Amino acid sequence: SIPVIAIDGPTASGKGTVAHRVADKLGFHYLDSGALYRLTALSALRRGTDLADEHALAKLAEHLPCSFTGGNVILSHENVSDAIRAELVGNTASKIAALPSVRHALVGLQLGFRKAPGLVADGRDMGTVIFPHAPLKVFLTASVAARAERRYKQLIDKGIPANMEDLLMDLQARDDRDTHRAIAPLVPAEGAHVLDTSHMNADQAVDEVLKWYAAAMKS
Ligand code: CDP
Repeated sequence: SIPVIAIDGPTASGKGTVAHRVADKLGFHYLDSGALYRLTALSALRRGTDLADEHALAKLAEHLPCSFTGGNVILSHENVSDAIRAELVGNTASKIAALPSVRHALVGLQLGFRKAPGLVADGRDMGTVIFPHAPLKVFLTASVAARAERRYKQLIDKGIPANMEDLLMDLQARDDRDTHRAIAPLVPAEGAHVLDTSHMNADQAVDEVLKWYAAAMKS
């Protein structure tokens, strides 16, 4: 069967970078599941959908006219790669991700990313809910300080003004929502390898994941 590497972890843990590079090295497909929650949030914000209307949000999620081509995120023929990264969109995504019908509506779309020769799936519940039989599950984490530091550098590099105190507060609020929600809370999946990258760069993390994958394929 088609192998899946599930990589879950908290916000700003470096999952995106690591998952992407692992996918490149293995020639696998890549699923950025967070982008699907962000796309749903962006659609809702643009349409003025009531963020308390779970049914309407689930309908949006179920019929997202999105595609992923050449590293770009497309929504109804528009390149929204930058638009979905906006702070407001991320915050809205984090809120609607707590709604069971929205999560349910996105399951089929996520399963569809599993194509030969393999998939690296990045998110919060890849190993716990979406791909529970993945031959390799990784829980990538880092200290709050290390994650805030990374996010700070990312923003400054992009020329976006950033404030460390606000970033720390935002990180903690997001961690809190992700770990305490009733549905698909962020926890390491059963059998997941936990990788703390506080004192590691992306290449070291990638090497570790590739080693685990090679070992998992032998057994
Ligand atoms: O930038 P950040 O890592 O916070 O966000 P992301 O990975 O792009 O995901 C956006 C939001 O979607 C997160 O705040 C999560 O709460 C939610 N999410 C989720 O619930 N389940 C997933 N598999 C992926 C993301």
